[in-house]
Amino acid sequence: MIYRSIFFSVFLFLFSFFPGMSKAHSTNTGILLVTFGSSYPQAQNTYKFIESKVKAAFPNTPVYLAYTSKKIRHKLAKQGIKVDSPELALAKMLDQGFTQVVVQSLHIIPGEEFNYLKQVVKNFANLPKGFKKIVLGKPLLYSTEDLKKVVDALYPYLPNLKKQEALLFMGHGTEHAADVYYSALNYWLAKKNKNLFLATVEGTLSLDSLLPQLIQKQVKKVYLMPFMSVVGDHANNDLAGKEKDSWANLLKKHHIEPKPYLKGLGEMEKVVAIWIKHLKEAYKELEN
Ligand code: CO
Repeated sequence: MIYRSIFFSVFLFLFSFFPGMSKAHSTNTGILLVTFGSSYPQAQNTYKFIESKVKAAFPNTPVYLAYTSKKIRHKLAKQGIKVDSPELALAKMLDQGFTQVVVQSLHIIPGEEFNYLKQVVKNFANLPKGFKKIVLGKPLLYSTEDLKKVVDALYPYLPNLKKQEALLFMGHGTEHAADVYYSALNYWLAKKNKNLFLATVEGTLSLDSLLPQLIQKQVKKVYLMPFMSVVGDHANNDLAGKEKDSWANLLKKHHIEPKPYLKGLGEMEKVVAIWIKHLKEAYKELEN
């Protein structure tokens, strides 16, 4: 018994000379991207695109992706695609020996989803024997500066608007107080080009409240675009879908030609760069 314990002490002593082998002495940083999730192939490709841009910006840091939506995770699991919840992804990272994590929100506004994620990060920060440090990067829109920057960044990806043409974005909208971001966004979009509009599916800025403006302007054709990270369920159904109450059909009813232009914000490299800027800011917090 005594020999064994001496042997073990010698082993530990020798081991301490190789700090690279001892997890306790090294910092091991990882990035976790968190989004709502979608089962649409176009959306999946967009997430891959965002991931590739993050990997290019942080070539030495492993990057993971998590979905907050349980429904979508379960749907994908049935197709054999496994995506973790943020909680599970973080638990796995902890188990794999990561000591520092930057969690980056791929959300649009600091609404319900972002605040939930904030709570998850807080819980992991308070975990005994948890990460040395865990920080959270801001969603796409956080400061007034972000609003202006995002409008400038997305502008080159929009179709050219001719006379009597407009472009209408579909924002998600929420009951959360952060719904005001969409009104602010509408203001900055109009400032950039008076033929850009935004309404929401679930917020106070509804299409109904916007229609009189389009009619008064004698707009004949409206491009429809989601103001969402990916082209998923809302874009395919609520915006451009066949149902009677889709935005495309509501516009038709008012003799305005709808022209779906389905491109997610996450497909626009210049917009993705703003999420990455927020990620870099969060990464810097690790050094404080
Ligand atoms: Co929704």
